[in-house]
Amino acid sequence: MFVAIDGPAGAGKSTVARATACELGFTYLDSGAMYRCVALRSLWEPHRELAELAREARIELSGTPSGEPGRVLLDGRDVSEEVRTSAVSEAASVVAADPAVREALVAKQRELIAEGDWVAEGRDIGTVVAPDAELKVFLTADPRERARRRAAELGADVGTVLAEQTMRDERDSAREHSPLETASDAVTLDTSGLSVEEVVARIVELVRAQ
Ligand code: DC
Repeated sequence: MFVAIDGPAGAGKSTVARATACELGFTYLDSGAMYRCVALRSLWEPHRELAELAREARIELSGTPSGEPGRVLLDGRDVSEEVRTSAVSEAASVVAADPAVREALVAKQRELIAEGDWVAEGRDIGTVVAPDAELKVFLTADPRERARRRAAELGADVGTVLAEQTMRDERDSAREHSPLETASDAVTLDTSGLSVEEVVARIVELVRAQ
């Protein structure tokens, strides 16, 4: 069974996908962490070709059975905190627009998900990575609410987060290759005003209805 969860930054994908995976006993895949790893490598080695960095990167994502955020290992080094900085967020949305980077990471993702039951989240999971997913969910939320959630998480100013988020949303949606878009067979869930528990319960209900 494969559950794809796509949507813009701050819609609650990570928290919801992790909790849903935990509830169902499925493995969780944070595809954004992979783009963040390539972005981090591009900051370490700015003169290298992005696609080469993406192909070479040894990315290991450890899940946690309790639904806590897992660790992100890049070339054997724990970069879980480093990949969440705003410099890496910004670089990730640039790196993610490169079709050769996407090709390399989609190949890694398909290898990972070849076996077992998954809840995978990202921007192109239901459209590109796993178009045959049994369940596709597109999570959205009001932009101000998304910025408020992200700002609370980062301890940052809402206005600054909203401005950065708007720029990244535009870049993710307007890029030529695999832009953020809703799969035609996805169920759209607006999480504004809903608790994580309510959203997870709705997705679990959709999974059980399969
Ligand atoms: O979900 P996130 O914020 O960790 O994603 C980081 C960046 O990677 C963001 O700019 C969107 C991009 N991304 C993507 O293009 N495709 C994915 N499947 C996952 C993330």
